[in-house]
Formats: sequence, C-alpha cells, structure tokens
Amino acid sequence: MAYSRKPDQKIQVPVFLANIGQLLTLQSLSSKGPRRGRDLKELGIIEDVAVLCLGGKIVSVGTTKDALRDPWLKKNRKKIAEIDCAGNVVLPGFVDSHTHPVFVSPRLVDFEKRTEGASYEEIAAAGGGIRTSLEGVHTAGKRVLAEKVLTVLHDMAAHGTTTVEAKSGYGLTVESELKSLEAIREAASRWPGTVVSTLLGAHVVPKEFQGRSQKYVELVCKEMVPQAAKRKLAQFVDVFCDKGAFTAEETERIFEAARQYGLSVRAHMGQLSATSLSPFLRFQPASFDHMDHVNEDDIVQLAKHNTIATLVPGANYFLGLKDYPPARKLIDAGVPVALATDYNPGTSPTMSMPMAISLACTQMKMSPAEAIAAATINGAWALRLADRKGSIEPGRDADLAVFAVKDYREIPYWFGANLCSLTVLNGVVSRQ
Ligand code: NIG
Ligand code: FE
Repeated sequence: MAYSRKPDQKIQVPVFLANIGQLLTLQSLSSKGPRRGRDLKELGIIEDVAVLCLGGKIVSVGTTKDALRDPWLKKNRKKIAEIDCAGNVVLPGFVDSHTHPVFVSPRLVDFEKRTEGASYEEIAAAGGGIRTSLEGVHTAGKRVLAEKVLTVLHDMAAHGTTTVEAKSGYGLTVESELKSLEAIREAASRWPGTVVSTLLGAHVVPKEFQGRSQKYVELVCKEMVPQAAKRKLAQFVDVFCDKGAFTAEETERIFEAARQYGLSVRAHMGQLSATSLSPFLRFQPASFDHMDHVNEDDIVQLAKHNTIATLVPGANYFLGLKDYPPARKLIDAGVPVALATDYNPGTSPTMSMPMAISLACTQMKMSPAEAIAAATINGAWALRLADRKGSIEPGRDADLAVFAVKDYREIPYWFGANLCSLTVLNGVVSRQ
C-alpha cells in the first residue's frame, strides 16, 4: 500500500478553506431525485471562494473577501483551522458506494492465472475466486479484520473519499458474516468519515452447500438477515445475482427477508449476464451494481425509478475485459448512474475513486463532469444519504476533498496519480 495508516484521530475543529480556485458545489437542482440525463454534468462550479465548516457541518460558501469580513470569523480566527487552498480545486468528498473491505490477503494466484489467459469464471469454477478468501476471514479475529478495514478507510480518505459503503461477504457462515460486520463497525468508530454497512451473506454458495443452495438461502434469510438487523449491524442487504452465484428467485427471497426485518436492499446485477430487473423494483432497491449486461426494457424502467445504476469500471479494468458497462446508453436514456471502486481482492483491488473516474472517462465515455457527479452526489443517492452527503451547501456534512490541480478535469486526466492533498471528513481535517 502506498499510504500507511495514520494514528486514529477524530478531532473536529472549525475549518476555514480559503482561496479556493474552483469549488464544485454539486448544489441541488430544481429537479428532485438523483442526477440523470443532462443534469448529471451540472457541477455548480463557483470560483475564488471560501467554505466555513462548524460542528462538522458546512455553514457558509462565499467569496474569501466576504468571509474574512465576517465578525464571527474575525473574532474566532485563532480557534479555526485555516487552510489556504492556493487556488486549487475543492469538491465534495467522494462517496464510494460499493466496497468489499473485509478480507485478509490479496489473491495473487488468481491474478497471475488471469495474465495467463484464465477468465474470472474459470478461476471461480476451479475453486478459486471468492471462496479463496473465506479461510482468512474464518481464522482471523475481529480485531485483525477491523485493522484491515481501518487501513483501507484511511487510504480511501487519502484519495478524497469521505463516505464508504462496506460489505461483508467473505465469511459465508453466520458467525463469520456477523464478525465481518462487527469489524466494519469497529473500524468505522475509529475513522472520522462515514461508513454504511451491508450484509452480503449471499455472495456465493459455499462449498458445503453446493447442490443445496436453497438451504444456504434459508440460512441467509432466517439467521443472517434477522441477526444483522436485530444487532443493527447493517443498513443494507446485498445479493450477487448472476450465473454461478444466486438466481433471481433466490434473490427475491432474500429481498423479502430483508424487507421483513426493515433492511433496505441493493444487488450485484448484470456483471456476467443480464437478469430481468423489473421484478425487483417493487423492493425499491437503492442500487443495481455492475450492470455490464442490461436489457433494453429494463433501461426504460430504470429511467423512471430512483434505483441507481452503480458502475464499477475498476473491475473491468482489473479483469482485463475489453467491454465496459454501457454508461453512455444508460445516462442518455435517463438512468441515474453512480461510480464506485468495488474495492475487493478478486476483481478490483483499488481504493482510488480518481482511478474509477478516469476509467469512466476513457473507457465508458463519460465526461469528467458526469464522472465527478456520479462519484459524489449520485453515490450519496445510492446510499440514501443525499440529504447530507455529495454536495457542498450550507447544512450539509463537512465532507470535502482538496486536489492539487487548477481545473477539475485534471482529476481523471493525471491517471494513476493521487493529487488529493487534503480531505475534511465530518469536519475532521486529514492531510496527506
Ligand atoms: O463485485 N461479483 C461479486 N463480487 C465482487 C467480486 C468478489 C471477489 O472476486 O472477491 C465484485 O466484483
Ligand atoms: Fe462488488
């Protein structure tokens, strides 16, 4: 890893970001709901401004000159962390709405096999893939897992991310799934940003249940979902619905259980093959993720709903695929689209939202503005946090990222580099 873990710190002070060259506010538009179609590229840019944050919230956005005249600011200047942004770009902290951080080891053998031509599905069928990560999670204690999660949360913050959705999914027993969610909770309590946790007990059918997937689904529905809900360990339930994982009927059963226990749902859909999405819309899923394969009829349906299509081009890049999700088609049809890293050991070991944004531009032909809105405000919609996250407006959470560039288009342009120089996470300053 390029960034070592910083000492745990959660000190919230008044923050004054002065001398911002370009501020990407992503401020609310008159149309309600997630950004779709042309609205996706409206970044609400204002130039030569300052932002004041108090008590973990944004309180004002205005010219640096005006802010410096403010009597409160004049009087309290010494108590404030004043940051000179030197004419650089400031944007809402990224909302990484799809990650799998609870694992122990990288999957280097699978990686190497792919360089020799094996596909993700072939490796999984031969016993590699997700199942390879189970043993590490089974044997690790909660503390070790929490340290792993915390390390990557700090690395994500170093790349401009302030809100992270974190899934379990490498346990696949009741005990290990709950331990994974507890590890997420412990790491989250030691990180100044915001974490949303998701139970992904239905990631793949474990070996012991092969040929009896119904039994495993029953375990997910009757044990994992109720316990995660009762112990408030997850806000969402996710299912990997695809060939080699769970069927549409099994996914519906799991969604029913989630609904029964008051949890919201999201799903991995269309990564390997298309599944008809309309039957799931009655569960009001927060998002369908991957979406490499999607039927025309479903695109029409999704354009009328607030379920977000979360695209994760890091997975396509890392698997060496030549095709990417049809972002242009989805956006032009009015489907609300978000971008996430899909951080995981099998298909996307990156914690970098700037990398996901760059891939969105070069491989999916999203404009830099569309990609940034998809990585901020629409990511917040995908986590049902758009009233707090993803935009820089008075009253919103003080989540901001400063990049050492003069024009926001440089963020995807300088690919592979980390140009984030500072993040503010719920009012806590973290310098790189
Ligand atoms: O989002 N597709 C399912 N889950 C992950 C991959 C998990 C793994 O290979 O470890 C994904 O790509
Ligand atoms: Fe995933």
